[in-house]
Amino acid sequence: MITRRTFLHRAAQAGIAAAVSPELFAWVQSHPRALSLDPQPLRIPPVITGGDLTLAPGTFRVYPDVETNLLLINGSFPSPTIKIRRGDTFAATVHNQLAEETVLHWHGVDAPAAASGHPIDVIATGSSYSVSFPIVQRASINFYHPHPHMATARQVYMGMAGFFLIEDAEELAMGLPSGEYDVPLMVQDKRVDANRQLIYNPTGADIMSAWLGDTILINGTPNPFLAIAPTLYRFRIVNASNGRFYKLALSDGSVFIVIGNDGGFLDAPTSVTSVNLAPAERLDVLIDFSRYAQGQSVTLKSLSFTFSDAPGSGAVPQGAELNLLEFQISKTGTSGGTIPTTLPAIIPHTVADAKRTRVWTFAALHHINDLQYDLTRIDAHVPFGDLEQWTFQSEGANTHPVHVHGGQFQVVDRDGNPPDVHERGWKDVIRLDPFGKVNVLMKFDKYPGLFVIHCHKLEHADAGMMANFQVDPQSGVDESAADASSLDIIPNPAADATNLHFPTLRSDESLTVVNARGATVVKETLSAGTDRYLLLTNGLASGTYTIELGRLTARLLVMRADAALCR
Ligand code: C2O
Ligand code: CU
Ligand code: CU
Repeated sequence: MITRRTFLHRAAQAGIAAAVSPELFAWVQSHPRALSLDPQPLRIPPVITGGDLTLAPGTFRVYPDVETNLLLINGSFPSPTIKIRRGDTFAATVHNQLAEETVLHWHGVDAPAAASGHPIDVIATGSSYSVSFPIVQRASINFYHPHPHMATARQVYMGMAGFFLIEDAEELAMGLPSGEYDVPLMVQDKRVDANRQLIYNPTGADIMSAWLGDTILINGTPNPFLAIAPTLYRFRIVNASNGRFYKLALSDGSVFIVIGNDGGFLDAPTSVTSVNLAPAERLDVLIDFSRYAQGQSVTLKSLSFTFSDAPGSGAVPQGAELNLLEFQISKTGTSGGTIPTTLPAIIPHTVADAKRTRVWTFAALHHINDLQYDLTRIDAHVPFGDLEQWTFQSEGANTHPVHVHGGQFQVVDRDGNPPDVHERGWKDVIRLDPFGKVNVLMKFDKYPGLFVIHCHKLEHADAGMMANFQVDPQSGVDESAADASSLDIIPNPAADATNLHFPTLRSDESLTVVNARGATVVKETLSAGTDRYLLLTNGLASGTYTIELGRLTARLLVMRADAALCR
């Protein structure tokens, strides 16, 4: 039997911060092997740009002494980090060598509906599919994970989740810490048995509360430490836990700087002493270690917080204090990185511009708007390009991290209060409190098609707390522009080519096609007497374009065939 004093003593020897909550102490008592594990160097997943992604059962040395049975992507735990530049094309082939169906979802990444990993697109065991689409969004921290309905929670839990980092020129010019000073941190909690194998057998109560682990893994590393130089570091953090929330802080209470979240940079860097992290949320954080001396250590922890959800069977309740990662100041070197004073501008949506309000009610026993998820039922039609106010409201005593595929939103308020520090800017996941209400502004202007909204407590999603919505292309004509109704585009969206129809030109007119970044990609002169034009779109990247012909304008959506899912 370990007494609290012995534990504190050993913890001090092991360099674990000495502040130990009763919950953590209780947990250590019930998990004596955790103490016998020396601190492990933080694992850093390999970096790829795409290519073959093979999902298969395998073993991995999570602990130094034994192989743990997992489900792996390319044999890596966590899954490889995908890192890609805006403007590049992401191309990958997903091979399903699991004994069950699966599909990969690129969480937070703007992808054509057919390539985005909708659960309806699962493939059978032994088969493969390819995706290829342009990266059109700004620098941001995203991740990818399986999304088969009713099996997402287990497949993610058993080891399949990786970062999907998007970089852009603006970010690279900011002088942020890079290389070894830019560290991805994937936070997960698992239940580990005495043989170092993962346990996953949620009870009804666990499905209500979400499956909570008793062991924290950072990048798949138990009891992790990172050797640090006394300089500025950047950490890109994702909460890839099935259902655990965290309240990140440093063990000495010192400040760190939040510069980004789900959708990229915030509007301004913000100093905090703690920040919340719901399942599937991401954070971009700078920590200045120059205030520490060689030999010191400081621990990234999760502070205790109160949580009203009913507890499940987990030994470590939601809101328990946890040690996540020990930083040991034991290296020399400087990152040369600087704390930016400003961040790229965010153009705010305004409530007054919303064309309509749509309410999504999350209720106990895993319903959205009173319905359990049905793969093939379309629960809502959302017009492409319209700004809408979406209201997420909870009719139960559970907390739900609400996630939307296919686009990102801006938070207006939570229960009448402004969003938290890290909830400003662009988001795709937002915490919805018990009996609470969150208003967001949402616009789908990247791709039409079928997407889902769901709770990112993965047990809730699997139990049916998910809904389908279809983003419907509108006619290509921008009704708000003068005379625009007479420039017609058929078909729209277009793949390789489309027909433009317009009133007979009385004089020569120039035709321009402008991409979403304002660059002219096609310029032609059409002669007097013409009333139609075949526009070839096979040289254009998927995305939205503005077509201008004299005083006529219209909006064209290009969805290249290579951006669709090919099996
Ligand atoms: Cu990471 Cu549909 O979710
Ligand atoms: Cu997603
Ligand atoms: Cu939920």
